[in-house]
Amino acid sequence: MPETNDIDETPDAPAIPDGVLLQVEDLHKSYGDFEVLRGVSFELRRGDSLAVLGRSGTGKSVTLRQLNGLEIPDQGRVTFDGIEINELSEKELVPVRRRIGMLFQGGALFDSMTVLDNVAYPLREHTSWSDDEIAERVEHKLELVRLPGIGHKMPADLSGGMRKRVALARSLALDPELMLYDEPTTGLDPVTSSAIGQLILRTQDDLGVSSLVVTHDLPLARTVARRIAFLHGGSFRFLGTWEEADSSPDSMVRDFLAGRAEIEDAA
Ligand SMILES: Nc1ncnc2c1ncn2[C@@H]1O[C@H](COP(=O)(O)OP(=O)(O)OP(=O)(O)O)[C@@H](O)[C@H]1O
Ligand SMILES: [Mg+2]
Repeated sequence: MPETNDIDETPDAPAIPDGVLLQVEDLHKSYGDFEVLRGVSFELRRGDSLAVLGRSGTGKSVTLRQLNGLEIPDQGRVTFDGIEINELSEKELVPVRRRIGMLFQGGALFDSMTVLDNVAYPLREHTSWSDDEIAERVEHKLELVRLPGIGHKMPADLSGGMRKRVALARSLALDPELMLYDEPTTGLDPVTSSAIGQLILRTQDDLGVSSLVVTHDLPLARTVARRIAFLHGGSFRFLGTWEEADSSPDSMVRDFLAGRAEIEDAA
C-alpha cells in the first residue's frame, strides 16, 4: 500500500495527476513499399477518451498496434507515462503491456478454453496469484461486464455480444490504465452495441481508465469519446472535440460524420 501521510494536503486532490499518459509523436509505418502511417501525432491525458475514425484500410488498427509495442514504428516515438516504449526490449515491455489493455478487432477468445480460463489467461501470464485469487478477480470482471457466473461456459455457447463482453473482461483483468479498443461493436446489433458503449463509459468513469477507441460506429464514438481524430492519408486530418468537428471548415470531416463518405465508398 502506498503511504498516505499527506493528510494536510487537499484531501480531494486526485491520487494521480491529470497529466499526459500517452504521447505519440510523428509515427511512420510502412509494409513493404506501402506507407500506411505518415506522421501520426497526438496526446492522451489521464482519464481522457479519444475516438479514432477513418475509412477502412486507412491504418487505424496499425496505429493501435504501435501504441503498446506490438509493432515498432519505422519512425516516431510513443511515450507511455514517461516511458519511451520503442526503446524497450521485449522483456522490458512486459510490465508496460500489463498497464495497457487491448480489445482486438474480432475480440477473439480461445475457443478451447472456458470463459474462466480465457479471462484468467493474462492473470496467469503476468501474476503469481493463487487459483482462488484468480477466480475471484475473474468473477469480479465478469460481474463488471454484467455476465456473472458464466465462468464454466465455453465461448461457443455464447452470443456474439456476450463473447465481446468476455473479451472485454479479459482485457480489463489486469486493471489497465489505458484501454485500446479496436472496433468493439462490429457485428453487434444496435442494442448490444449500446450496452458495450455503456460498459466502456463505466470503465472510464468508475475505474478512471483512459481510452482510445477505433470505430466505425458513430453513435458509439459520440457516447464514449470526448474528442475525435480523423485518420486520412496516413495522419490525423482532424483532432478535436465533437463541437469542433461538427463545425469543422473541412467538408471531408463533416461528410464523414454525416455518413456521406461511407455511402460513396460502399457504392
Ligand atoms: N502486417 C501487415 N502487413 C502488410 N500490410 C498490412 C499489415 N497490417 C496492415 N496492413 C495494411 O495497412 C493498411 C491499413 O490497415 P489497417 O488494418 O490498419 O486498416 P484499418 O483502418 O484498421 O481498416 P478497418 O477499418 O477495415 O479495420 C491496409 O492496407 C492493410 O492491408
Ligand atoms: Mg482495423
